[in-house]
Amino acid sequence: MKKNLIITIDGPAGAGKSTVSKQLARELGYTYLDTGALYRALAYQAIRAKININDQTQLADLCSRTKVTLANNNGKMKVYVNGEDVGDRIRTEEVSRTASAISTFPVVREALLQLQRDAGAAGGIVAEGRDMGSVVFPQADCKFYLDANVEERARRRKDELSGRGVAVEYQEIQKGMVERDKQDSEREIAPLKAADGAIIIDSTALTIEEVVESVMRQIKSAATANI
Ligand code: DC
Repeated sequence: MKKNLIITIDGPAGAGKSTVSKQLARELGYTYLDTGALYRALAYQAIRAKININDQTQLADLCSRTKVTLANNNGKMKVYVNGEDVGDRIRTEEVSRTASAISTFPVVREALLQLQRDAGAAGGIVAEGRDMGSVVFPQADCKFYLDANVEERARRRKDELSGRGVAVEYQEIQKGMVERDKQDSEREIAPLKAADGAIIIDSTALTIEEVVESVMRQIKSAATANI
C-alpha cells in the first residue's frame, strides 16, 4: 500500500470524526490532526482576553498575538496557546460556540491555514475538520464526509461530556449543534460541505467499528489503485 497518504475527514459536530480519525491514525501509524482544536484554541484565548469577536481589528490583533502550536503525544494531539497546554479547557460548549463564530472570519482562517498545511506536508496524516478536503488539503489521497442525524449526534456528544463528568442537558446540546451546523455550513469562506470526490458516510446507524472498517476498506482500495 502507498505510504504517507493524506486522508481527510470532514463533517458536522458529533458525527464521529474524532473517534474514527484517531482510530484510523493509530491503525495506519499516521499523525492525527484535529483542526477544530486550533479554532477552539483561538476561541479560548478570545474568551479569556474578553475581546469583542465581531470587531475585526480586535480579532486580527488577537490572532497576531496568539501563537498556536501542536505536539503529538503518542497519537494524542496536544494544543498549546502561547506555550501553555490548554488541555480540555477548549472542550466546553462556550468554546464550541465561540470557535464556530470566529471561524467565519477570514483573518482567523488565514491565521491557521499554514499551520494545518505544514502539519500535513509530509503526508501520513488523518486530518479532521470542516474544510480539510475542500480547502486545506484539496490534493488529499482519500476524502471522507462523515454525517449522522442531529438527534444521534447530540446523544453522542452528551455521552462524551458525561464521560468527562460534564453535565449538560440533551436539549441544550442539540440546540447548540443546530446553530453551529447552520453557522459552519452557511459561512462564505470554507463552509462545511462534502469536498469534490469525498465519500459520504452516514454513521447514524453504524458503530464506530463499522465506520472505521468501511473507511479503511476505501483507503486500501484507493491506495492500491494509486501505486
Ligand atoms: O470540530 P470541532 O467541533 O472541534 O470544531 C469547532 C469549530 O471550529 C466548528 O464549529 C467550526 C470550526 N472549524 C472550522 O471552521 N474548520 C475546521 N476545519 C475545523 C473546525
